[in-house]
Amino acid sequence: MTGLLDTEAIRKDFPVLDRVIHDGKKLVYLDNAATSQKPRQVLDALNDYYERHNANVHRGVHVLAEEATALYEGARDKVAAFVNAPSRDEVIFTKNASESLNLVANMLGWADEPYRVDENTEIVITEMEHHSNIVPWQLLAQRTGAKLKWFGLTDDGRLDLSNVDEVITERTKVVSFTLVSNIMGTVNPVEEIVRRAQEVGALVVVDASQAVPHMPFDVQAIQADFVAFTGHKMCGPTGIGVLWGRQELLEDLPPFLGGGEMIETVSMSSSTYAPAPHKFEAGTPPIAQAVGLGAAVDYLSAIGMDRIAAHEHAITEYAVNRLAEVPDLRIIGPTTAEDRGAAISFVLGDIHPHDVGQVLDEQGIAVRVGHHCARPVCLRYGIPATTRASFYLYSTPAEVDALVEGLEHVRNFFG
Ligand code: ALA
Repeated sequence: MTGLLDTEAIRKDFPVLDRVIHDGKKLVYLDNAATSQKPRQVLDALNDYYERHNANVHRGVHVLAEEATALYEGARDKVAAFVNAPSRDEVIFTKNASESLNLVANMLGWADEPYRVDENTEIVITEMEHHSNIVPWQLLAQRTGAKLKWFGLTDDGRLDLSNVDEVITERTKVVSFTLVSNIMGTVNPVEEIVRRAQEVGALVVVDASQAVPHMPFDVQAIQADFVAFTGHKMCGPTGIGVLWGRQELLEDLPPFLGGGEMIETVSMSSSTYAPAPHKFEAGTPPIAQAVGLGAAVDYLSAIGMDRIAAHEHAITEYAVNRLAEVPDLRIIGPTTAEDRGAAISFVLGDIHPHDVGQVLDEQGIAVRVGHHCARPVCLRYGIPATTRASFYLYSTPAEVDALVEGLEHVRNFFG
């Protein structure tokens, strides 16, 4: 197998991967699409922040406040460089990708022309979105009277773009879609959607939660207007997400949350707002979490996102081939490694995914089961749930083998 990283060395950075569970079973962690594990470098950065620098940001004149501010803003610089943002001021820190997507929906909900979403306009999403890229738009549609439309799915787990010109129309104000499906791993053809969106002047929002952690990512190259992602899936802590937005949009669009930090002046009758990104970061931000994310970005960059992508591609190819050997196993989504990420969902005969997950867990293998916050995908394929194995930079072929053996055990267990 070519393209693999030196996982023996990498795994030494992740203390949790040494865990032994259930009376001597070595942990096989295959739930990386839900959250990744954290390397020592990120844990150390969090500790160091709290042990030596902890203070509130942007408002203190004392040494710790200045250090905390420099660390927090330094993390913004790192994230901006990581996704090739033209300006650091385009990087807004949020709590998670859900908050980032809700932030965009609310900016547009309160916006004036030309961004205003109202009863004469349409919002376009896809049937493979995570709930965090469905519900905010449903809420916006309910509030404004806008029509919510979506691209459906083909039988092999890809977007059906055969009617792209009918779904995205002159009335479309915003098109929001995932670059990589969290449930099926499908990588979507951004260019085609962006081309049509730009033709009609619609804003493009990309949910990159399952993309930024796994591949080189360039916000300028994909030509979106907004990109949302989260820290905890890319070796960072929980509680930190990112919304990247084009500078002129961030200048024009109204804030969503009001409070400290986001203002320029306040009187009892009115307020003016700080420039972006602070306009969108009301209250004390997730300071330590941002610092941790900065350390995660350093960690991933030192290994190289192109090498991480190659590693995951090799593991995914091996996994889809090995899973094809398991009788009665049906992959939900692309069945080859082409144009797909490292999350693989499947059903095993008529064994309920929760039972599959439980028997795998007894063998030390951690997978996710359920609808993966993408229930419309399960409805589309007529299944209640899936079992999902998802890989990352520390995943090994031996772990794929353990999964396949584990599934044999599941089949035997359920006869
Ligand atoms: N969004 C995460 C997942 O897909 C939680 O598992």
